[in-house]
Order: sequence, then structure tokens, then C-alpha cells
Amino acid sequence: MLTKEENEKLTRIEGEAPMGQLVRRFWLPFLLSSDLPGPDSDPVRVRLLGEELLAFRDTSGKVGLVDPLCAHRCADLFYGRNEEGGLRCIYHGWKYDVTGQCVDAPTEPKESNLKLTARLKAYPVVEQAGVLWAYMGPSDLTPELPDFEFMHVPDDHLYASWSTQGCNFAQAIEGGIDTAHSIFLHSTLESHRKLEEFKKSTAMTNGSGSIPQGRYRNRDNPPQLHSVDTDFGVLVGGRYISGEAEDYWRFNLFYMPFYTSPPGGAGSKLVHAFVPVDDVTTARWSFTYNLEKPHAYRDVMAMRGGSGVHVALVPGTHTPLRVRANNYLIDRDEQRTLSFTGIGGIGEQDFAVQEGMGVIVDRRRERLGVSDGGIMQMRRRLLKAADDLEEGVEPREASHGSVYRVHAGDTMLAADVASWPDDPKSKAALAPKW
Ligand SMILES: [Fe+2]
Repeated sequence: MLTKEENEKLTRIEGEAPMGQLVRRFWLPFLLSSDLPGPDSDPVRVRLLGEELLAFRDTSGKVGLVDPLCAHRCADLFYGRNEEGGLRCIYHGWKYDVTGQCVDAPTEPKESNLKLTARLKAYPVVEQAGVLWAYMGPSDLTPELPDFEFMHVPDDHLYASWSTQGCNFAQAIEGGIDTAHSIFLHSTLESHRKLEEFKKSTAMTNGSGSIPQGRYRNRDNPPQLHSVDTDFGVLVGGRYISGEAEDYWRFNLFYMPFYTSPPGGAGSKLVHAFVPVDDVTTARWSFTYNLEKPHAYRDVMAMRGGSGVHVALVPGTHTPLRVRANNYLIDRDEQRTLSFTGIGGIGEQDFAVQEGMGVIVDRRRERLGVSDGGIMQMRRRLLKAADDLEEGVEPREASHGSVYRVHAGDTMLAADVASWPDDPKSKAALAPKW
């Protein structure tokens, strides 16, 4: 549990809140490149860290992220005309480039210098891996991009999506780093039947990880958790006792300040980002990539429709179809006969539990167990970084993009657990290919 004060510090990101100041030290994914599909495409409203912003792509393809209100008389530039090299206000025709600088003020006399001094607040934007990243911190501390493996894979090996989520970002991270919930929340009744068959046989059947021993990950064999601080964040090892010479281990990662990664199946990898939109709303990003081959066309189509960790969206938006207001379309018959939850979609199953706690859960009410060790360590890491920043100590991860060059994985390790993070097989499982 956390005290009221610790909980406030962990969760609040708007305004001058210490955690918001910490998050501002990092690049933030805020739109897919395809959300601004081409030169002079339609401007898009963006909400990030509690600020209303406006994104647009200019004629040369550069992206601006600016204050949406015209510097003249505060008309909403969302309705603006995206014209040659800038966005023109529909009220009096004032025009701005992607840096926020006013480049035309046609209602003013030619000799006026108002145009030169009029500018919109604007944040730097970079485009990488089909994603637009913004930096909202001090200009003299521009960070390095986190050098994730997915930034290096061929375009057709990566599929990224994002959707809004109606709760605070820390709740979403906690779901992302929690290794123990998948075998319940995301399970099917068929997987439980298979477990019963598995217990009756010693045959190597399909596992639920990248190696056959993933079958040891089941409801009757909860993981023993070990977590350590690392240069990127927190490494959580879940050890599943096999009864044999080696145990099955899964490594979940928390990367500062809001990324998580769980191990996937053979060749497939997943990174989540939980970007604070405001104190009570989060953008849940999913980067699904394959080390060995491009995503098949049918898989891309399915992910677009909301399969796997991707969320089914209201067409043309990043709003989920299944939300709390419609109880995530829970199907009670399906819950009795097919799936553990009766809720369609892994992301939506996560939303049901994470949003159902309330938009900012009161962590004084928790009863944490040993299986929550990774979550506790993640909170301590974030709280310490926020405290440090208040003392003037900048987060090291922001200026060392290379620390993100590690991926989630699973492996078998000898039953001696003392040196699990340093075991050569652990290192191999965590080593990026790209
Ligand atoms: Fe989950």
C-alpha cells in the first residue's frame, strides 16, 4: 500500500506535479504517423499531460505540436486551413509554421512587427518507427529517444496501435508489469481444460511462451517473483517450478518512465507505453513486432480490428468500442462456457479491471502479496526518480537511450536462483536481435 501522499505523488501528472515534471524529461509517443497521413492533412486535437494541443503536418511533411488557440484572439486553430507551409486561422487569417511562429498576420499593417512577436507555444516532435514523439520538457535538456528494438525492425515486422483508457497511467503500468494476472484475466476455459490434460500426461504440448516449457505457466503453478533495479527500470523474473533440473523463467520489464514489456510467443515481442493524457486518462500503446518475419496481412487486418493486445476502436478514432459505460460488452454466457471473463479483447480485459478500480485507485486499500513485488519496486523507482528530480537530479534514462536495448523473454534456468539476472541464459533471453 501507499500513503495518501505517496499515491498523489505517484499518480498526479498535470501542472507542476513532480511526476508530471519527471515524465516531461522523456520523449512521449502521442500519435501514429498515419494519424497525420500526409502533407497538409487534417489537424488533429491532442491532449497530453493535461494540456490541450493541436498537431498538424505541413506541406513539407514536418509535424507541429502547438497551442491550439490563435495568438491573436484565441480562436481554435483546429478549424484552421492547413495551407502552404503552415496552419491559417479561419478567424482573421493569421498563419503559423510548425515551430509555432506566426508567418502571416494579414489583418495588420505591413509595417507592424506583431507578426514577428506572435507565436504559439510549440513542442519539438520527431518521427520514428511510424510514431510521432513529443518532448515537453526544458529545451536545454532534450533527451535521447529510447532505443527500443522495435525502432530497428523492418517496417512490416512492426504493428503499433494506441487507444485511450479511462484511468491514471500508474494503474495501467501496474497491469503491464504484473506477471501473475494473465493466467486468469486473459485465459480461456479451453486453456484450463488443456492444463488438466497436461497434468495427466508428461508429453511436451504447446506452451504459452516461446519454449515448450511455457506449459509450466498455469493456474496451478503461480510464479515466484524476483525483481531487481536495472539501468532501464525494473526487471521482474517469474520463476515457475518445473520439478526438473531447470525451472521455467519469464522476464517482464518496466522501462522508465511508463513502458512495460511481457514475453511473447516464438519470435514475437510486445512493448506497451502508457502515456499520461491527464491525471485520469491514459494512452495505451502497443508495439507488436516479430524478430523473424513480417506480420502476415491477415494478422495486420486482425490487429486493426482489435485482436491480441490491440483494442477494437470506434472507427476513425482512438476510443475503444468496449468501455465502462457499456460494461465492456461482457457476455455472461461466454464467461460460463468459453473465456474466464466473457469480455472480448486482452486490452479490454485489462481496462475492465484497471478502470473498475476508479480513475485513481486509493492504494491505502490494497492488500499486496509477494506476487506484487515487481509492482512495489516499479512504484519505488518512479517515486525516487520524482524525488530526485525535485532535488535537481535529472533521470539518467532520459539521456541514455541505449539502456532501452533489452527485450522481454523466457528461458529455462538451473534451480539455483541466486544469480538469475546474471545467468548467461538470462542475458541471452534479454538480448535484442536488432
Ligand atoms: Fe493484462
